[in-house]
Amino acid sequence: METFNEKNYRIRQERPEDIPTVKVLIESAFRDVAESDHKEHLLVERLRHSEAFIPELSLVAESPKGEIVGHILLTRVRIVSAAGKETLSLGVAPLSVLPAWQRMGIGSVLVLEAHRCAAALNYRSAVLLGHKDYYPRLGYRKASSWNITFSYDVPEDCCMAIELCPGGLEGVQGMVCYDKAFEEV
Ligand SMILES: CC(C)(COP(=O)(O)OP(=O)(O)OC[C@H]1O[C@@H](n2cnc3c(N)ncnc32)[C@H](O)[C@@H]1OP(=O)(O)O)[C@@H](O)C(=O)NCCC(=O)NCCS
Repeated sequence: METFNEKNYRIRQERPEDIPTVKVLIESAFRDVAESDHKEHLLVERLRHSEAFIPELSLVAESPKGEIVGHILLTRVRIVSAAGKETLSLGVAPLSVLPAWQRMGIGSVLVLEAHRCAAALNYRSAVLLGHKDYYPRLGYRKASSWNITFSYDVPEDCCMAIELCPGGLEGVQGMVCYDKAFEEV
């Protein structure tokens, strides 16, 4: 599924031939981010080979000239309650826009289009660790509103979740368990 917006860049599924370009794009996007370990491109490579990977949810933003300027990846995660109940969800990570193309709405469009694709695949929710001022404008709320927690040592404000359909997180609580690809190798 491909879409165009008013700025005429389009969001589409990543293709195998995009992978080298996307790698450079992710490295560039995170180069000056203080909180980054600058290894996000390696994480994406591991995730592509993991069971958590969903090809339809690795999306790129393409400029009118065919330049890939943004990328987003959503992969399968589990939310596991203290009683052991497991709920399938999606982890949003990473989101990258080339520095020269930032603040033009591309990151927002990537997130919203990823939500639309995920909902079409019947995924009911997504979670992420991210900037507390960025994601709420795209519909995210603190994960603690649902008693959803993360195993990472990050401020509560940065732990967020969203329902991709009405009641998508109803009755869901517990710890977000990411694929082992998220662990350093
Ligand atoms: C974060 C990122 C994906 C946003 O993409 P973008 O296309 O620039 O974002 P948009 O144009 O949709 O939104 C821009 C708005 O987000 C805000 N914003 C951008 N980065 C932000 C950040 N790190 N923290 C808080 N707000 C941020 C901008 O201030 C701008 O706000 P304004 O509209 O009030 O001026 C992009 O800046 C990026 O790739 N950054 C480096 C990698 C990164 O940090 N990824 C996110 C990890 S959680």
